[in-house]
Amino acid sequence: MSESSRPLLEVRGLCKDFSEADGLFRRRSRRVLHDVSFSVGRGEIVALVGESGSGKSTVARLVARLIAATEGEIVFDGVDVRKSEPRRASLVYRKRVQMIFQDPFGSLNPAHDIAYHIERPLLRHGLAKRGADLEAKVHELLESVGLSPAADVCSKRPDELSGGQRQRVAIARALAVQPELMIADEPTSMLDVSLRIGVLNLMQNLRRDHGVSMLLITHDLASARYLADRIMVMKDGKIVEQGPSDELLNDPQHPYTQRLLAAVPGGRSPGPEASSSEPPDGATVAGTGSEPAPPAPTSQPSHLETSTCPT
Ligand SMILES: Nc1ncnc2c1ncn2[C@@H]1O[C@H](COP(=O)(O)OP(=O)(O)OP(=O)(O)O)[C@@H](O)[C@H]1O
Ligand SMILES: [Mg+2]
Repeated sequence: MSESSRPLLEVRGLCKDFSEADGLFRRRSRRVLHDVSFSVGRGEIVALVGESGSGKSTVARLVARLIAATEGEIVFDGVDVRKSEPRRASLVYRKRVQMIFQDPFGSLNPAHDIAYHIERPLLRHGLAKRGADLEAKVHELLESVGLSPAADVCSKRPDELSGGQRQRVAIARALAVQPELMIADEPTSMLDVSLRIGVLNLMQNLRRDHGVSMLLITHDLASARYLADRIMVMKDGKIVEQGPSDELLNDPQHPYTQRLLAAVPGGRSPGPEASSSEPPDGATVAGTGSEPAPPAPTSQPSHLETSTCPT
């Protein structure tokens, strides 16, 4: 397969066992991911949805190589990284695959200003030289995620920003190393509804302007449909259904996907009569209870601009 036609990420037969307490003194191993296989193409956004505890974050952490898989292959750009870098991910892999976490506050260091958070990856990966070059790159990155004037933002500490602004800093930090794949684990679920659409639009534009591929983990079917080319549905550590977003949401085949859609507030039918041009308003995955109403996207992604998004 030629370099451009093969998927950027191919996950094959991924399994994960965790050890957990079994009584007071004993521990036992429990398999939480079973034979998970999927791919993410270049410039593609793929959403992973499913109820709480189904294994979504575990998939994210395995692909980001924050934890080790029990079985399976993680093939990135044609190379099985579990074989080529068995002990830990190389600096190169960590540059190419970046993760954005649910809690932007938790992922930023309250002791440092915003400039520090963006400077660090630039210096670590040799992408800027200290001095004017570094400052210009930090400003450019902050401006690119709609944080301006960047000079003012640079001197602030994380607790002086809003949740939406913090998540933009986290995205700018990930962008600093020009990743090819971003894994976003519930990037908007802790944000106020009014800030969510801005972050989703920003992610949409990253794909458009930089060709970044994304694995988007969300409870929110509306966000998944809005952003993702394809959706994968996870239940009990298995992907039970995957397909193009509109197709999957308009004509779900698996009973679990049908139940997820039937549980959408407002009772939208999962059947073929559901319109593909309208997002399933308020659709959150049943059983999670953690996510208030989603942004209700009203326009097509191509019309969206990051710079106009308030944070
Ligand atoms: N470090 C760990 N040790 C033991 N069990 C774990 C660990 N991390 C996750 N699990 C278990 O693995 C399962 C999947 O967890 P995971 O966090 O991947 O779910 P999730 O789909 O992301 O859920 P949520 O939507 O609530 O974030 C859960 O049963 C969880 O308790
Ligand atoms: Mg999770």
